[in-house]
Amino acid sequence: MTSSSAIRDILVAGLHNTHALEMEALQIMNRQVERLQNYPELEQALRAHIHETEQQRQRLEEAMSELQTSPSTIKQAIFGLMGNVAAVAHTPAKDEILKNMFANHAFENYEVAAYKALIVMAEAAGYSKITGFQQSLREEEAMAQKMKDMVEPITRKYISLEQRETTASH
Ligand SMILES: [Fe+2]
Repeated sequence: MTSSSAIRDILVAGLHNTHALEMEALQIMNRQVERLQNYPELEQALRAHIHETEQQRQRLEEAMSELQTSPSTIKQAIFGLMGNVAAVAHTPAKDEILKNMFANHAFENYEVAAYKALIVMAEAAGYSKITGFQQSLREEEAMAQKMKDMVEPITRKYISLEQRETTASH
């Protein structure tokens, strides 16, 4: 194996992993948006990011077809299964909103790291169209920051909603 084909393989693996990650992201976000009537700021942020994520997924698929590799369906199936099992096992707790916020915060930062690595791999492989991945990275960084900024206001809102409910039932 020549070193350039080894580098290409690293990039191909990176594209597959990032693609599977975006599929997982879409599942996680789609599951949440339906249950956020009390938290419109978060619902709006997630809906906007679902739209961005569809484009990020497209960028990855374009790179894959250019490198003549297609999204790994096996990996997708495994991720999908885990997502669904988690959804069934999780009876929504009262503080589900908080756990979702922590998970969103972690997930977006994970994606930031994944795109930083992917850009380095693409550069090393001499892949020409990295501006799309740089765009995806900026979107993930913006979403990570947004999630970070929402932790405190969402927690305050959760407390006040719980208080109101407790008062109303007494
Ligand atoms: Fe994201």
